[in-house]
Amino acid sequence: MTSRTVTKGILVVIEGIDGAGKSTQARMLYKDLCRRNIPAIFSREPTDSIYGQKIRALAEKGRESIKPEEEYRLFINDRKAHVSNLISPALEAGKVVVLDRYFFSTIAYQGALGLDPERIRAENEAFCPLPDAAFLIDIPTKVGIDRIKNQRNETPNLFEKEQYLEKVARIFASLDDEFIIRIDGKSAVAEVHQCIRTHVDTLLKKAVSGSG
Ligand code: TYD
Repeated sequence: MTSRTVTKGILVVIEGIDGAGKSTQARMLYKDLCRRNIPAIFSREPTDSIYGQKIRALAEKGRESIKPEEEYRLFINDRKAHVSNLISPALEAGKVVVLDRYFFSTIAYQGALGLDPERIRAENEAFCPLPDAAFLIDIPTKVGIDRIKNQRNETPNLFEKEQYLEKVARIFASLDDEFIIRIDGKSAVAEVHQCIRTHVDTLLKKAVSGSG
């Protein structure tokens, strides 16, 4: 299993259901690190790899057209490329890696489609560096759906339907790794950002003092 001790960088993951505000927060954190001249990269999943492109194309057509297991394989292949091409090299180079979604999304979203969350976790942990912090931005499902409808002017697709997202949220709520930090996503954007920043600054201080 990959361990965080082999890397020099810091892996920060932002997770949550659709509409939780994780993309906004991940970008805010990344910009804040850049402004402070802290070497950082930002990335998101699904990525733009051939697998990620397939996932996005399926999302537009309707994900009903693919079996959960096949879709799961696409997410795994996408992540394998992401880890080896971008995440691991950046961590080896000592950077802060900010991710908008990671394997906790697979545990929650593909788990909510009926796949075994523990199997998903085991398969991912076999090749994924574990995060130093995984922020779970928590909002009621209805709030997420309303935000998607109002702010993005989108009709929630299959992946964003309320019942499905309820299941996803329940799995997110059941995660209890020591690196998970839950944040109330109903708070103001600036407040959520401040909370994330405070935690990341603690990690940075630990890394500098060599105790982390
Ligand atoms: P999302 O980040 O919401 O994309 P966008 O910025 O285009 O809104 O991700 C797209 C969808 O993919 C989202 O509904 C969650 C889903 N997803 C999974 O089902 N499993 C995964 O492992 C990941 C990373 C995402």
